[in-house]
Amino acid sequence: MKVTVFGIGYVGLVQAAVLAEVGHDVVCIDVDQNKVDNLKKGIIPIYEPGLTPLVNSNYEAGRVKFTTDAASGVEHGDVIFIAVGTPPDEDGSADLKYVLAVASTIAENMQAHKIIINKSTVPVGTADKVTAKVNEVQKGLNKDVTFDVVSNPEFLKEGAAVADCMRPDRIILGTKSEHSEKKLRELYSPFNRNHDKIIVMDVRSAELTKYAANCMLATKISFMNEMSNLAEQFGADIENVRKGIGSDQRIGYQFIYPGCGYGGSCFPKDVQALIRSAGAVNYDAKVLQAVEAVNYRQKEKLFDYIMRHYNNEINGKTIALWGLSFKPNTDDMREASSRVLMEKLWEQGARVQAFDPEAMEETQRIYGSRPDLTLMGTKEATLSNADCLVICTEWQAFRAPDFDLIKSSVKDDVIFDGRNLFEPDNISEYGLHYYGIGRGKSISPVI
Ligand code: UDX
Repeated sequence: MKVTVFGIGYVGLVQAAVLAEVGHDVVCIDVDQNKVDNLKKGIIPIYEPGLTPLVNSNYEAGRVKFTTDAASGVEHGDVIFIAVGTPPDEDGSADLKYVLAVASTIAENMQAHKIIINKSTVPVGTADKVTAKVNEVQKGLNKDVTFDVVSNPEFLKEGAAVADCMRPDRIILGTKSEHSEKKLRELYSPFNRNHDKIIVMDVRSAELTKYAANCMLATKISFMNEMSNLAEQFGADIENVRKGIGSDQRIGYQFIYPGCGYGGSCFPKDVQALIRSAGAVNYDAKVLQAVEAVNYRQKEKLFDYIMRHYNNEINGKTIALWGLSFKPNTDDMREASSRVLMEKLWEQGARVQAFDPEAMEETQRIYGSRPDLTLMGTKEATLSNADCLVICTEWQAFRAPDFDLIKSSVKDDVIFDGRNLFEPDNISEYGLHYYGIGRGKSISPVI
């Protein structure tokens, strides 16, 4: 099938590559000439396991093409994905200007029936806005080409995006058009094996499904972080509580890991956007507001431990920091907890010596060169002359470190672990003090 994808970002590029891999004929459009040129040379703009070979092999086979020529892109695809960004505007609402600009471009250039698919995470009602925009532009041009706008949200996780896209849990199609449903069932048939994963519903329900999924997951995390704060006060260990509640299948083990807060391009933005959308219909979304507030507070948790440990005096301290990306297996630093931590440490006059397996370039791009940040080549190198060690991201490579080396290098013999990678009792055997998240007595002994 002939497919066009507008927006070569995370979602667009992965979707395009995966569709090409199963044999569809895909054209990708982006306004960024540099990005397009790089892709033609095999340079992929993001780090995502498995993506580079997938894109390059399909590009070489001619199944996926990259261009800035929007008109030819619109002509090419029977199915046109809109996968451009919806950045939060000043009040946290999703900004639709890029989505609507693509809608205009499609309207200007289409000569035959098109199925327009909203793949970007967009507020409920956006499909109606896209429809209105296409109609308005066509009217101005005296055109009347038929089209349908479908909501087909993406549920991929960074770090596992290719696998998630290849083997989705479900494929949501928001449309009332039988023609669109038939065509999209055909498009997705290679991914719809073993059992039917396609769920067809009305457009607005499909749009809300995406937000509901992300907000539910964010709620689980903030709930657990709240429990971890209580565990700390009560002298309980949240890791035992986690296992205890996860064993209940109604709760489940996934997304109940306490930590130093959730980050990334989706949860913070989507929770905020749904709060704003709720406000726009005069609904006070109290659960979502609490989810967001708990997460803000949780991102300050490691800083609070550090300040408490040092009696609020960290001026001149050198902090070894492991993990900069918002989660493992990505170089993405958007809304990463490490950023909140570093910025607060710098405000207090501390220096940071950091290591991350993938996100060092991104850190450099965001913060440039500054005297209070040194990026080190290995996790061991961060320890030299450091006063303490802090862990922000649960990369596999951090899970079994040389504790003797940490003990002999880190001056104040203390680890602040934002992802509960270790057992407090094991660490104390090395003569190290350990702060985990919600690990009861190791943090605040209760009488
Ligand atoms: C998320 C959704 O999982 C995905 O379905 C959606 O399409 C996009 O948003 P992503 O942002 O890539 O994907 O990351 P995810 O693995 O969900 O993690 C998000 C954040 O939550 C990370 O900062 C992670 O560290 C944190 N997290 C996750 C926890 O703190 N505890 C958990 O138990 C799980």
